[in-house]
Amino acid sequence: MILVLGALGQLGLELTQNLRQSLGAQAVLAADIRTPSDHFLAEGPFERVDCCDAAALEALFRQYPIDQLYYLPALLSSKAEKFPKQTVETNFIGLFHSLELVRKYPCRVFYPSTIGVFSADSPTLDTPQNCMMRPKTIYGTTKLAGELLCEYYHHKYSMDIRSIRLPGVISHQVCPQGGTTDYAVEMFYAAQNTKVYTSYLEADTTLDMVYIDDAIRGILQLMQTDRCCLHSGVVYNLTAMQFSVAELHAALREYYPDFELCFEVDPLRQQIANSWPERINDLWAREEWGWNPQYQFKDMVRTMLFHLQKQTHV
Ligand code: SER
Repeated sequence: MILVLGALGQLGLELTQNLRQSLGAQAVLAADIRTPSDHFLAEGPFERVDCCDAAALEALFRQYPIDQLYYLPALLSSKAEKFPKQTVETNFIGLFHSLELVRKYPCRVFYPSTIGVFSADSPTLDTPQNCMMRPKTIYGTTKLAGELLCEYYHHKYSMDIRSIRLPGVISHQVCPQGGTTDYAVEMFYAAQNTKVYTSYLEADTTLDMVYIDDAIRGILQLMQTDRCCLHSGVVYNLTAMQFSVAELHAALREYYPDFELCFEVDPLRQQIANSWPERINDLWAREEWGWNPQYQFKDMVRTMLFHLQKQTHV
């Protein structure tokens, strides 16, 4: 059975749906600290659990035959700055409890990392897998520490742990919350609804992004790859597209010509964005497990608008 911790989040919801479609509803145990909708509850097994509660997590491992764990609970970059303690607990301590449990109840683990592990000291373009990483955010700090913890358990106890440094994820089912890359998703909703968006990032800020379907496909591809092909070890850079705030606005104006963009730059989020790369190098993911995104910028825009229009007409 597969355990998805953080199943109600931006990645968790679509990952759970995808896994249930291919393996059957009963094969995937969804768990989250939040309360699901009745609709979600009806779709398959769910347990309410706090990822920092080691005893509650152990109860799940005792009760269910778990052979894969997706550890997805996380506070994202800008919210994390407001709640450092909760960030350390969720992004790192919960992971530590989970890895300790996996020593006892062996299973394959996925942990999402982020472009936020890089910093102003890292190369901005073609950022390699291994380079100077000195994040100045609590988000980047906990995620880099999480990566190292995963590598430690992998080397020390031969545990099968896999991780991807995800860029901003663009999706339409669940809006990301508390991130620096969230503006991209917000802009889609604004284009459709209010026809005006006030950006907290400057017009020329460019960041790495990936469309949700590709992100999920990538995670599953990595999890299904034979361990012997993963020469690099545990963590992989991944990207699909790069665009600036102004470029996304221009693309949306092709569909909504009166869509306006205003600015009220948030110094915190701007500083975070400035410290992240514009385009990371994901060659190892491409070579070792066949990462090959299917959505480029224009495909992503078209597909997002298609889904959002469908949601409006339901
Ligand atoms: N989407 C994340 C954030 O903006 C980065 O991985 O915080």
